[in-house]
Amino acid sequence: MGTFTKILLASICVAFLAVKWTSPSFNKESLKGARVLVTGSSTGIGEQMAYHYASFGAQIVITARREKVLQQVAEKCLSLGAQKALYIAADMASESDPDKVVDFALEKLGGLDYLVLNHIGPSPFSMWEGDVEHTRWLMKVNFFSYIQMAWKALPSLEQSNGSLVIVSSLLGKMPSPFVAPYTSTKFALNGFFGALQHELSMKKSNVSISICTLGLIDTEAAMEKVKGVTSVPAYPATEAAMNIIITGATRQSELFYPWFTYIMSITKEIFPSITGYIMQNSYTYNP
Ligand SMILES: NC(=O)c1ccc[n+]([C@@H]2O[C@H](COP(=O)([O-])OP(=O)(O)OC[C@H]3O[C@@H](n4cnc5c(N)ncnc54)[C@H](OP(=O)(O)O)[C@@H]3O)[C@@H](O)[C@H]2O)c1
Ligand SMILES: *[C@@H]1O[C@H](CO)[C@@H](O)[C@H](O)[C@H]1NC(C)=O
Ligand SMILES: *[C@@H]1O[C@H](CO)[C@@H](O)[C@H](O)[C@H]1NC(C)=O
Repeated sequence: MGTFTKILLASICVAFLAVKWTSPSFNKESLKGARVLVTGSSTGIGEQMAYHYASFGAQIVITARREKVLQQVAEKCLSLGAQKALYIAADMASESDPDKVVDFALEKLGGLDYLVLNHIGPSPFSMWEGDVEHTRWLMKVNFFSYIQMAWKALPSLEQSNGSLVIVSSLLGKMPSPFVAPYTSTKFALNGFFGALQHELSMKKSNVSISICTLGLIDTEAAMEKVKGVTSVPAYPATEAAMNIIITGATRQSELFYPWFTYIMSITKEIFPSITGYIMQNSYTYNP
């Protein structure tokens, strides 16, 4: 083994142990009765988060566009042990719906302890062909609604010492081909909420912000897109959901799930051309 490899492995171990020792331990009792709003919770990772919060005995509001599906998810939440499970159908591309959803949660739950922003609008997995309108729409759904809801909920979160949880992606740290509009919305989130993290800390705010960087997760929507074009392993949505919840509950500023997304985001900065080569060759492209 070369010296470089040894140093690299040693630093990875040290970093890993440092994270293990310094992360506060998760107490699931802290989520009993917690007032939670999870967006994009009709399916995928958001749905799994709703079920975990439910089994910890939280009071939750779920939201997405499809009311019928939300109703079924809410019923399952109650059967899993949620103290309350309410739903509200909303379109995050609309200018008024983001506020409407936060108002609904504040009114029905009497405040908020967790605002988990997770929804994304569907976006094609293909080369950029100049669809500016789609990108504008996706920015509304994946970005503008996030900042609108966060601002609306902030006073209540201040009062409750609450947490704001942002579900982002490795594609918010590292661009990859075929997802130009999506990766832009995630970079925007990381930039905005990274700035807000500084400001809240400078103001000695009661609110914590957690920015979650996820790799490929086995939701139906994601699997449908990458089918046959990549061999990158996908991680389970239920485990991703649990990791996001723990990160918020322990007020950590960042999550990397799976863990190697952390290594990838660093490697990309240190070895850009190698990373670029690997990225471009990890997809099949037939012009
Ligand atoms: N899956 C992955 O590989 C992966 C990787 C990295 C990061 N992430 C992040 O993890 C989060 C969840 O991803 P996912 O794979 O679970 O997504 P998903 O399965 O596609 O679910 C998206 C959710 O958003 C809702 N939604 C879509 N358009 C909406 C709109 N206009 N207004 C309101 N709600 C809308 C959908 O419900 P309706 O259709 O009923 O509206 C659904 O509940 C996202 O932030 C994503 O960027 C995922
Ligand atoms: C922070 O929380 C404390 C009590 O938990 C509360 O008294 C104080 O008003 C909160 N700060 C703000 C800015 O709301
Ligand atoms: C809320 O946080 C403030 C500081 O941010 C702290 O002084 C206060 O004790 C906390 N209140 C509760 C109820 O945890």
